[in-house]
Amino acid sequence: MRSVTLVTGTSSGLGAEFARACARRGDEVVLVARRRDRLEALAAEIGGKAHLFTADLAAPGAAGRLMAELAARSLAVETLINNAGVGLTGRFADLPIDQQRAMIDLNIGVLVELTHAVLPQMRERRQGAILNVASTGAFQAGPRIAVYFATKSFVLSFTEALHHELKGSGIRVTALCPGPTATEFGPLAGFRNPRLRHFIGPPGPVVRAGLAGLDRNRAIVIPGLANKISAQSNRFIPRAVMRRIAASLKL
Ligand SMILES: NC(=O)c1ccc[n+]([C@@H]2O[C@H](COP(=O)([O-])OP(=O)(O)OC[C@H]3O[C@@H](n4cnc5c(N)ncnc54)[C@H](OP(=O)(O)O)[C@@H]3O)[C@@H](O)[C@H]2O)c1
Repeated sequence: MRSVTLVTGTSSGLGAEFARACARRGDEVVLVARRRDRLEALAAEIGGKAHLFTADLAAPGAAGRLMAELAARSLAVETLINNAGVGLTGRFADLPIDQQRAMIDLNIGVLVELTHAVLPQMRERRQGAILNVASTGAFQAGPRIAVYFATKSFVLSFTEALHHELKGSGIRVTALCPGPTATEFGPLAGFRNPRLRHFIGPPGPVVRAGLAGLDRNRAIVIPGLANKISAQSNRFIPRAVMRRIAASLKL
C-alpha cells in the first residue's frame, strides 16, 4: 500500500492550495472534485505525485465508491483533509430544500463517512492525521445562512470530540476554522454585501495555519487575529447580541 494525502474539493480555493502545500512537502496527493479539467491542470502543476478522482461527493454512495477505488489502487490514506464544502445564503424558508439537503450531505455526511472509513487503517498503523475544515461561522448562529453555519458547528463539535477520543492513538485530529477567504466560495454561496471584501483574506495563510496546527495536533485552529477575536467573542457577548451582529452583516 502507498501512503497518500486525500484532499477533497481540490478543483479550487483552499483545497487546491492544500494540495499544492502537501505536494511541496513530498506527499502523494489524491485530488477529488467534480470539475475534471481543473483537477487535471492542478495535477500537471503538482507533477507526478497526484491521483485524480472526478466525483460528486454529495451523491449517494460517492464516499464509499471513492474509498473502494483508493483500495483498488492500493492507496492508503495517511492524511485526510476534509475540505469540500458549499454555502448558501438567504432565508431558510425561501431556499430550495434540495440544495440545503445536498449541502448537509456534503459538509457533514461525506466528512463523517470519509473520517470513519480512514480510521481503521490509521488505528492499525497507529499513525495518521485528519484535518476537518469548519469555519468561524461554527461558533455562532447565522441568520440568512442558517444551515451552512449549522453544518460548520457540527464539524467543529464532531472534530473536537474525535480529537479527544483519539488522544494517545498516534492519530492527530484538527478542526480548521477560517474566516472569509478569497476563493470561489463567497460568490457561489451568494454573498452580495460589498463591505465583506474588507474582511476577506488570502487562502495561503489559512492553509499554512491548518497544516501547522495539524502537525502539532491542535484541536482547533482559527487563522488570523481578527478571526480569533470574532470566533471567541461569543464567550463574552450574549447569544442574542451575537445573532443580531451576524444578521447585521447582511451576507
Ligand atoms: N472561503 C471562505 O470564505 C471560507 C470560510 C470558512 C470556511 N470555508 C470552507 O472551506 C472549504 C473550502 O472552500 P473554498 O473556500 O475553497 O471554496 P471553493 O473555492 O468554492 O472550493 C470548494 C471545493 O469543493 C468542491 N465541491 C463542491 N461541491 C462538491 C461536490 N458535490 N462534490 C465534490 N466536490 C465538491 C469544489 O469542486 P467542484 O465544484 O469542482 O466539485 C471545490 O473544489 C469549505 O468547506 C468551506 O465551507 C470557506
